[in-house]
Amino acid sequence: MSDKQPNSRIPDFRLLSLSDRRRELATRADLTSDDLALFDSGGLAAADAARMIENVVGIYALPLGVALNFQVNQHDYLVPMAVEEPSVVAAASYAARMVRAGGGFSATADQPVMIAQIELLAVGEPAAARARIEAARAEILAMADACQAVLVSVGGGARDLEVRHVTGSTQNRLVVHLHVNCRDAMGANSVNTMAECVAPRLAELSGGRVGLRILSNLADRRVVRVSARIPFSALASDRGGATGSEVAEGVAAASRFAEDDPYRAATHNKGIMNGVDAVVMATGNDWRGVEAGAHSYAARDGRYRPLAIWRVEGENLVGRLEMPMAVGTVGGTMQVHPGARLALRILRVSTSEELGMVIGAAGLGQNLAALRALATEGIQRGHMTLHKRAVATGSGHS
Ligand code: MEV
Repeated sequence: MSDKQPNSRIPDFRLLSLSDRRRELATRADLTSDDLALFDSGGLAAADAARMIENVVGIYALPLGVALNFQVNQHDYLVPMAVEEPSVVAAASYAARMVRAGGGFSATADQPVMIAQIELLAVGEPAAARARIEAARAEILAMADACQAVLVSVGGGARDLEVRHVTGSTQNRLVVHLHVNCRDAMGANSVNTMAECVAPRLAELSGGRVGLRILSNLADRRVVRVSARIPFSALASDRGGATGSEVAEGVAAASRFAEDDPYRAATHNKGIMNGVDAVVMATGNDWRGVEAGAHSYAARDGRYRPLAIWRVEGENLVGRLEMPMAVGTVGGTMQVHPGARLALRILRVSTSEELGMVIGAAGLGQNLAALRALATEGIQRGHMTLHKRAVATGSGHS
């Protein structure tokens, strides 16, 4: 967060022409029109794309919108979203406005700790091997840090080690988890390098051999928690005529449906990921990683559950979201993708934790908008209005 966050309330932003919208955004976010013209070509030149992946033949673009009204921990954010689905940006802005009426989103984030997994196979005596590895904890952490000096120099590095006896197809497998503070990077490269670096010594200590060495996308040490408390007065339905308390009861009932039924929980979570992925993508982060983390976390106790739940508390509707958030503000794609860097400038976050909390808020807001629509007039009316507009302008889908 910068010392001067822009006000994220911009009345009638959606009614402005594209160029006027850019002008308004440039003023609010302290950018130039030239900066924003970068998005005419998707924020990425073909020459840069060719440096990112193999066999490049072009660039595939998505619309980039800005969700308004977001306030997280008392700070305003203009939230860039890259997404192809109509009504996602409008719904996020609408929900954020309701949440703002209750004081905005509150959020906390774990330290940015990722897990590297080192699999050890053919371990003759797993219990004794585990004890030997645990006794060598300091040596292993120092060894891991020595192969990631840059990460250590910015305050990150290996923090802990955990040994798991993972059985099933074999009784002779240990899995060592290295917990690595990745600071503002997503951290995949660092933790994978560390895993490969310490694996031979771990194999020696275990008396077994090295298996896989790779991070886990179940990033349950890097969780964000976001909550929202919306007064009934901000929830009343303008179209369907429902009162604020009826809307709140409807949203809470929709939450309980998702808590009771994995089929519904999947769709409930898909709505959350509409908001999450759009910001993850706009900021150049790995949305497959975040998706894998979200769904494995949703099923962590053996049953697939909603990532956010809603309850009526007094005269308020209260929502709480909890999910892993492996995202970064430096390194990786950010180094080569000017559009991702610009999206981060619009957002003005200064740490990976802060980015994760805003992304979590986008997910919780998206969930609120979907449940509110489903519990009142249904989702199709608003969705189809936007869909028809897209078709009428020749950019629609069937
Ligand atoms: C559509 O992209 C997302 C929803 O299906 C989410 C939900 O049902 O909660 C509307």
